[in-house]
Amino acid sequence: MPATGPVDGLERLIRSRRMTRSFTSESIGYELLDALLDVARRAPSAGFSQGVHFLALSGAATSTFWDVTGSGEWFSADHPGLLNAAAIVLPLADSAAYTTRYAEPDKIGAGLAEAANWPVPYWLTDAAMATQQLLLLAEEAGLGALFFGIFRNEALLLENLGVPAGITAIGAVALGYRSADDLPSGSPQSRSRAAASRVIHHDHW
Ligand SMILES: Cc1cc2nc3c(=O)[nH]c(=O)nc-3n(C[C@H](O)[C@H](O)[C@H](O)COP(=O)(O)O)c2cc1C
Repeated sequence: MPATGPVDGLERLIRSRRMTRSFTSESIGYELLDALLDVARRAPSAGFSQGVHFLALSGAATSTFWDVTGSGEWFSADHPGLLNAAAIVLPLADSAAYTTRYAEPDKIGAGLAEAANWPVPYWLTDAAMATQQLLLLAEEAGLGALFFGIFRNEALLLENLGVPAGITAIGAVALGYRSADDLPSGSPQSRSRAAASRVIHHDHW
């Protein structure tokens, strides 16, 4: 429950999490990385289709990511410390897992066996839910993280990484230990959080 005094637990994590754009060069062991990803994947999933994958790049593989997508050049201007991130995790959404699941007898009646029929592409929704869990788990583990868009060459990147056709990367998560010089950055520096009364509506917009 939201508290009026000091907060702890999940609420504290949600309130303290912010995007990190400067990391130390310390690596994250596979054991910790896999533990975070294994918990993060336990997110809601439409029809329990579970078409969300994480592809984790570490070490030299992160350099390839920065080069192929052009994001290394982009971020090096204002956030060079971002390129120290120990890992880049690509949350991947497989629409075919959803259309296949919704062709099963208990779901076929929904008419969602074709991706074009989905009013909301739930494979993207599910990938976002799992990704937010990863951001909070990183915070809990004392790591920093940045979710950001893949600027260019997404198709080439995924092909190079052996990702089957038809799978979408919803973005990328840079993960690592937060550098001491990592100050709050990005749009929250120039925009305030919207008042609750502007975005929470009761009974009518
Ligand atoms: C869908 C999405 C795309 C984003 N893309 C970028 C990006 O390309 N570059 C970046 O620096 N931050 C990106 N962000 C981070 C947002 O700028 C950040 O979440 C927002 O300003 C609020 O700051 P906070 O997460 O630190 O509270 C993205 C966030 C989301 C949810």
